[in-house]
Amino acid sequence: MKSVAILGHGTVGSGVYEIIEQNNKYMLKTYDEFINVSHILVRNPENHKDIKSSLLTTDFDAILSSDCDIVIEAMGGIHPAYDYIRRSLEHRKHVITANKDLIAEHGSELLEIAYNYNVTLNYEAAVGGGIPVIKTIRESLSAHRLNSITGILNGTTNYILSKMHEENISYDEALKGAQEAGFAEMDPSADVLGFDAARKLSILTQLSTGKQLKVKDVLIEGITNLDDKDISTARKLGYKIKLISKLIRYEHCLHAFVKPAYVRSTSQLGLINNEYNTVVLDLGQIGQMTFSGKGAGKFPTGSAIYGDILDILLNDKHQTKKPLVPTKICHYAQGYNDWLVRLYSLNHPIDLEKVFKFFNQGNVQIEDFTDPHDLAFTIQGMSETNLIDSIKKLQNLNIISVSKYFMILE
Ligand SMILES: NC(=O)c1ccc[n+]([C@@H]2O[C@H](COP(=O)([O-])OP(=O)(O)OC[C@H]3O[C@@H](n4cnc5c(N)ncnc54)[C@H](OP(=O)(O)O)[C@@H]3O)[C@@H](O)[C@H]2O)c1
Repeated sequence: MKSVAILGHGTVGSGVYEIIEQNNKYMLKTYDEFINVSHILVRNPENHKDIKSSLLTTDFDAILSSDCDIVIEAMGGIHPAYDYIRRSLEHRKHVITANKDLIAEHGSELLEIAYNYNVTLNYEAAVGGGIPVIKTIRESLSAHRLNSITGILNGTTNYILSKMHEENISYDEALKGAQEAGFAEMDPSADVLGFDAARKLSILTQLSTGKQLKVKDVLIEGITNLDDKDISTARKLGYKIKLISKLIRYEHCLHAFVKPAYVRSTSQLGLINNEYNTVVLDLGQIGQMTFSGKGAGKFPTGSAIYGDILDILLNDKHQTKKPLVPTKICHYAQGYNDWLVRLYSLNHPIDLEKVFKFFNQGNVQIEDFTDPHDLAFTIQGMSETNLIDSIKKLQNLNIISVSKYFMILE
C-alpha cells in the first residue's frame, strides 16, 4: 500500500481523489497495490462536507511529518505551493503537480532538488490537461531531435475563438459565454493575454530540447484585439483563427511565439475546437506526431495525475539530472512565410498604389477592401523582418495608421 496526500480539493484535487477511489479495486487485482489517500489539505474544511472529516486538514506540517509517500499539489499559485513542494521533496516524498505557473518558473530548480533527494517530480497535468504528452516526450521520444512544436495549448481561448467562428459573436460575448459555461475564469487575463499558453510552451520546449526557454523569451500576443473582420476574413478564405503556440528550433537559435494565426478550417489544427488542446511535434527522423484531447477539467486532469502516481508506484524510477543549456533566442521567424495583413488608415482612404509599392516580395492578393479605410490582404512568401519593415515605412509616411498581421500556418 502507498499513501498519498492531496493538497487542494478543487477541480483537480477532487478529480484525482475520485479516480483513486474508483480504481483501487482494479489496482489491487492488477498490481497488488492499493493507494491510500492519507490527507486532503484545504483552506476551508467547512466547504468540503462530502469528504470524511478525518481526511481533511489545514496543517501542511502534519503531512510532512506523516509517512505518506507521494504529495500531490493541486492548489495552484506560486506561494505557498513552491514552499510545500520543495519541503516535500526534501523530506524524500515524491511530488506530482498540475501547476504550470510554478513549473514554468521554478521547474528546473525543483527537478534538481528531486534529483538530489532521490525522489521524483512529475507534472503531466501541467501541459495539455489529460493528454499524456510530458511522459511521451521525456521517455518514448527522447532519442529524437525535435525541430518544432505547434500547439493549441489553452482551452479557454480555443473555446472563445470556436464560438466567435461558429456563432458569429464578438469577443466580449464569447468570453461571457465561456465564463458562464465554466471554461473561463472570472479574471481570464492569464488565458486571453496568452501567458498560460506561453508557460506551457516553455515547459514543453525545455523538456524536449534541453534548452532554456524562459516565458519572457516567448513573443506573446493574446486574442483580445481580434475583431469581427479578422474572423469574417478567415471564414471567407476557408480559415479559422487559433491561438497558436509555436517553437521553431533553428540551427543557432530558438524562436517561440504565442499568437493568433490563420489555419485552414479542415486542417489538423483547424479541427481542434472548444476546450480541446493539441500538440504537434516535428521530430526529424520519425516525422510529425500529434496528440489531442481535453486540455482541462476535473477528470482529464485527474487522469493525468493518476498516470503520474502509477508511474512512480510501478516503475520505481528516479529523477534524471539534466541541467538546461542556455541558448540564443531569435525574435522573428526565419525564411519565407505566408501572411494575412490588416492595414487601417484613420484619417484618409488607403491608397493601394502607395501601399503595394512597399510589398515587393511575395505574391499579394487583396481579400477585403469594402471599407476604404480598412484593407485586408494575403501575401505569400515574405520574410517576417521584411514584412515588419514594410509596415513600419507605411506608418512613418502616414500612408496607414494602424496594422496587424497573422501568420498563415497550413
Ligand atoms: N482546473 C483545471 O482544469 C486545471 C487543468 C490543468 C492544470 N490545473 C492546475 O491545477 C491547479 C489547481 O487548479 P484547480 O482548478 O483545481 O483550482 P481550484 O478549483 O481553485 O482548487 C484549489 C484548491 O486548493 C485549495 N487551496 C488553495 N490554496 C490553498 C492553501 N494556501 N492552503 C490549503 N489549500 C489551498 C483550495 O481550498 P479551499 O477549497 O478550502 O478554498 C481548493 O480546494 C492549478 O495550478 C491549475 O493551474 C488546473
